[in-house]
Amino acid sequence: MLFPLPFSKLSLSASILSTLLFNAAAQTASSLNCTEFFVPVNISTQTSKLNVTAPSSQAEMTGLITRMTWANSSITNDVNLGTTALNATYKIWSQLCVPDGFGANGTLEFTIHGGTENHTYFSLGKDSPFNYAQAAVQAGHAILTYDNLGAGKSDKPDGIQEVQISTETAVGIALVEQLPSVLKFGKLVGVGHAHGSVIMMQMLAQRGNLFDATVLTSIASSTLGATTGIAAMNLQIASESAPEFHEGLSSAYTVSGGWTSDQTTFYHFPFFDADVLDDLHRGREVMALGMLLTLPENRPALNYTNSVLAVTGDRDYFMCAGNCNVTTNGFDSAPAAVAGLFPAAKDFTTHIPENTGHFLNYHHSAPQTFEFIQNWISGAL
Ligand SMILES: *[C@@H]1O[C@H](CO)[C@@H](O)[C@H](O)[C@H]1NC(C)=O
Ligand SMILES: *[C@@H]1O[C@H](CO)[C@@H](O)[C@H](O)[C@H]1NC(C)=O
Ligand SMILES: *[C@@H]1O[C@H](CO)[C@@H](O)[C@H](O)[C@H]1NC(C)=O
Ligand SMILES: *[C@@H]1O[C@H](CO)[C@@H](O)[C@H](O)[C@H]1NC(C)=O
Ligand SMILES: *[C@@H]1O[C@H](CO)[C@@H](O)[C@H](O)[C@H]1NC(C)=O
Ligand SMILES: *[C@@H]1O[C@H](CO)[C@@H](O)[C@H](O)[C@H]1NC(C)=O
Ligand SMILES: *[C@@H]1O[C@H](CO)[C@@H](O)[C@H](O)[C@H]1NC(C)=O
Ligand SMILES: *[C@@H]1O[C@H](CO)[C@@H](O)[C@H](O)[C@H]1NC(C)=O
Ligand SMILES: *[C@@H]1O[C@H](CO)[C@@H](O)[C@H](O)[C@H]1NC(C)=O
Repeated sequence: MLFPLPFSKLSLSASILSTLLFNAAAQTASSLNCTEFFVPVNISTQTSKLNVTAPSSQAEMTGLITRMTWANSSITNDVNLGTTALNATYKIWSQLCVPDGFGANGTLEFTIHGGTENHTYFSLGKDSPFNYAQAAVQAGHAILTYDNLGAGKSDKPDGIQEVQISTETAVGIALVEQLPSVLKFGKLVGVGHAHGSVIMMQMLAQRGNLFDATVLTSIASSTLGATTGIAAMNLQIASESAPEFHEGLSSAYTVSGGWTSDQTTFYHFPFFDADVLDDLHRGREVMALGMLLTLPENRPALNYTNSVLAVTGDRDYFMCAGNCNVTTNGFDSAPAAVAGLFPAAKDFTTHIPENTGHFLNYHHSAPQTFEFIQNWISGAL
């Protein structure tokens, strides 16, 4: 693992104190029946005390990012001064889309997006073939998307000491625990993308069968591509590089260098629509440094006994350095090797769409991939 962190530093108990409050309910202009709201979550966790301060210049930021990508970088250990307790309340922006006639025994998909993304990763554009939420609703499922802590319209606390994997995991668990007060449903399916899949694996390692089935997209068991991926993102101080969106935000928050950086890291040429890339990334979504500095060690979900599906594009640059068809730990591909982290799962399926990069949902293969995922969910429940 590229950024090893002792497991003990990550362990936490997410004690959930909050009750759900809706404010601002709105119908979107789409054909989907969606409601948007903020969920206040109280979390209690252990974070890493990091000996890093928000960079005072882009040069310092670039120096820090470069240090993360050195061969055998030990930065994660070098800056870690131990753990500290964090009790906090955050406002998390969420969107729930429910199909007509959804019943109390229906299936709800709970999604978590990745870094430099927001909920839009799963719901881009009305009637777009790249809109995962729409595919889920068409399959008769309700779907919850949210902006991760430190992204989109959710709270952006200290980007180094607070927006860390343990906090993101605690927020995910807190949201899952509150779902029954939002919607009556029968089965719950987790759907993660990239860093969202990593968060989800931490949630399952802690809580076992939190989901009745789990779909991990753009995931691999190694971080073959993380070094080149992080370097290629060409991370900038968000408030300086995109002041039109992020003026006043702490310099602990980064944005990718722009269109070319996004293409290199997330897209496999020429199997995507340039206007989709442009639309999605125009908002220059942020990513907190604390997230990159606390990438977790792989930790098996020993108590998870339901089914798992791993879906990763064969040309995923970030996860597989551009070729996921590599034998890994005795498995015939890097995504298949994720099975090693689910020793008690009743079933593990791997699907590798061809000509597809890290942003799985935005390649030409997406409609077939969405269909594959929805069919798999039906079979797994
Ligand atoms: C969550 O934390 C806030 C702020 O500390 C507090 O006002 C609220 O009562 C807490 N919610 C619950 C259910 O304890
Ligand atoms: C924190 O890092 C600085 C170098 O950036 C170092 O001089 C200092 O000793 C470190 N502090 C601790 C407590 O390790
Ligand atoms: C990185 O670690 C590997 C395995 O421990 C070692 O063989 C290699 O020499 C190291 N490379 C550098 C640049 O330190
Ligand atoms: C944090 O919350 C836990 C309960 O979840 C409580 O035991 C602890 O005292 C709290 N710590 C602080 C500093 O408020
Ligand atoms: C829209 O979803 C809400 C639940 O979020 C439900 O109460 C309402 O009946 C749905 N409307 C339609 C037209 O399906
Ligand atoms: C789900 O609930 C509806 C009524 O809400 C019922 O008609 C249907 O048979 C149920 N389906 C299953 C699979 O239990
Ligand atoms: C973030 O969300 C906004 C809408 O809230 C959207 O326009 C933008 O494209 C999103 N950015 C990313 C990278 O997901
Ligand atoms: C798994 O479940 C067992 C039995 O309930 C429990 O003792 C153990 O702590 C759990 N392990 C983890 C990692 O949650
Ligand atoms: C990966 O393997 C599949 C199945 O053999 C193949 O169709 C695809 O082209 C391969 N992709 C790469 C990047 O080698």
